[in-house]
Amino acid sequence: MRPFVLLVASVAALGGLLFGYDTGVISGAILFISHQFTLSTRLQEFTISVVLLGCIAGSSVAGSIADRAGRRWTLLASGVIFGIGALGSALAPTVSVLLVSRFVVGIAIGFCSVVAPLYISEVAPANVRGALVSLYQFAITIGILGAYIVDYALAATGAWRWMLGLGVIPALILIGGMVALPESPRFLFKLGLAGPARDVLRRIAGHDEIAAEEQAIAESLQTAGAGFEIFRQPAVRGALILGFSLAVLQQVTGINTVIYYGPQIFLMAGIASNQASILAQTLVGTVNCLATLIAIFFVDRIGRKPLLYAGCAGMFVALSALSFAFAQTRLAGSLGTIALVSMMLYVGSFAYSLGPIVWLLISEIFPLQARGLGMSICTLGNWLANLVVSLFFLSMIQLLGRPLTFGIYAVLCIVTLVVVKRGVPETKREILEKISLGRGSSRAAEVTS
Ligand code: BGC
Repeated sequence: MRPFVLLVASVAALGGLLFGYDTGVISGAILFISHQFTLSTRLQEFTISVVLLGCIAGSSVAGSIADRAGRRWTLLASGVIFGIGALGSALAPTVSVLLVSRFVVGIAIGFCSVVAPLYISEVAPANVRGALVSLYQFAITIGILGAYIVDYALAATGAWRWMLGLGVIPALILIGGMVALPESPRFLFKLGLAGPARDVLRRIAGHDEIAAEEQAIAESLQTAGAGFEIFRQPAVRGALILGFSLAVLQQVTGINTVIYYGPQIFLMAGIASNQASILAQTLVGTVNCLATLIAIFFVDRIGRKPLLYAGCAGMFVALSALSFAFAQTRLAGSLGTIALVSMMLYVGSFAYSLGPIVWLLISEIFPLQARGLGMSICTLGNWLANLVVSLFFLSMIQLLGRPLTFGIYAVLCIVTLVVVKRGVPETKREILEKISLGRGSSRAAEVTS
């Protein structure tokens, strides 16, 4: 892989770091914010979830903005919005200013969650595209872990303004990086700027043999329509249904119950002290990070589908074990250990499968003309499902009990396996446009590296 390509992907992946940091940091900060502003429970819940509302708003418009203004400018804008939101949160004199600022941060996360994987996927050479989009997921996991660590480190002083404000630093790097980086060659072709587009393609490839890729892009531009119209075409509609289902399944299999409520689950399992459960959560965050490396190394070698099969199966086993253990009163003594092991297996299995590969697939399966809008709709589904799962998790536990709640997530892993088996095309090492053009037929061209 050329250093230039790695640089481009790494800068764009900073969007993932901000995504992870800003969704994770509130779990620790909320304790001190509630104290400072004497928040009611309702207002506490709202302070936590307002960022998700921002994500929903941001992701619903990000695709059309990226299709008009370009991928690069949209990512740059998200860096600026992040910076404003983080500063606003850190300096908020009242709870209303804090809520508005967190909503603004959410808009920026919504932008990034659509455009960062889209940009990386359009810039990446076919044979390393999986690894580079997985790098974005890796950055999300580092952001989450970083947030746990910052929360833990600043907890003694209760410095919640610093917790929220530190997000400004990666935002500034993202802005600086995006000023220097080129626009996606595919977007330039779409604008009819063939000269600059070829220059970027050559810089990415490191040689002049870009004819095959250029022709595939040109074909894709000829066949497709524009706007929502394009989703009338059966193949594009099929891609939308598949992408949307995967994006929703990534959430309804329960990942953010562990990411957002991990310490509470550990307390339920009998890990008694706050400190021990936060430590256990840091372990889970570390496994989340490290297991993403498996995807980076293998997603372009053994392919997307085998990793998805293995990951969903692992998640199913872990959730079933958790559900079973919560149902057995005689296991009460060892519940803490069982919970820790199952949650590590669960998060680890997610981290090399549904985590990165859903973002990867939704950036791959649409033709160029439908990519921005298609990704926006899928990502919107992802954030809506995230909001529903995280809002209702504690109520589900109260209403249905722990065994049934985790049992439902386990069954949804099986549903995901079926969707993967029946719907997901193997896209490893194919030119982006061959994937979207080839859906439903067998016109797949293996790119030899
Ligand atoms: C998901 C997030 C989740 C994160 C955990 C991402 O792929 O979209 O909702 O918090 O993975 O690492």
